[in-house]
Amino acid sequence: MDASKVIAASVLYEGDPKDMLVRAGKAPRLPERALPIITVPTLAATGSEMNNGAVITIDDEGEKLKTFVKAEVLYPRVAVVDPELTVTVPQNHTAFGVCDIITHVTEGYFNGIDGTPLQDRFAEGVILTVLEWGPKAVSDGSDLEARAQVQWASIVALNGWVQVGTNYIAPVHMIEHTLSALYDIPHGAGLAVVNPAWMRFAARFRPDRFAQFAQRIFSFGSR
Ligand SMILES: [Fe+2]
Repeated sequence: MDASKVIAASVLYEGDPKDMLVRAGKAPRLPERALPIITVPTLAATGSEMNNGAVITIDDEGEKLKTFVKAEVLYPRVAVVDPELTVTVPQNHTAFGVCDIITHVTEGYFNGIDGTPLQDRFAEGVILTVLEWGPKAVSDGSDLEARAQVQWASIVALNGWVQVGTNYIAPVHMIEHTLSALYDIPHGAGLAVVNPAWMRFAARFRPDRFAQFAQRIFSFGSR
């Protein structure tokens, strides 16, 4: 999906399409036109089917990095979302997808601003939903109900709805993209390692927010 987005923009882009990507020391020159994009996801994870981002790995001329472009013209016109298309995703990639979904909302939850109580609840809703349905999708890939709930969560997690107004940044994704680029790790597997480590690091700076997370997600302190 992400390659298709970049290709759709590259067709109408003047100059080197790599210039639309975020790279060190260079301000991206965003595409202003793109061919119409229709997405058909076969994996519940990235949420790319309903957002304006594309993550791309560059591996040429001694340059190896995983980076991204975000531009208005990259919003798909249509997303054809059918959880039946995800039933053959193997267990490990199903689990990696769930880790990706969780991290998409924890980025905003932990790395956004305070004073966003409704957005906090949206994020918690996404996490609690995939914590309930994700393991079911992993243990029985043909469980269409579980596949459907996880897929809808993947879309909501990164179509902008949860993040709006949080002024968030995504350090966990930036760290993981580097690991993926250099070691060819599946994105969600890398996040499963980096996100808990990030949380241990970041908790000391925002203890109240992490206490809220512990209470609301893991019922910590209420038993
Ligand atoms: Fe991600």
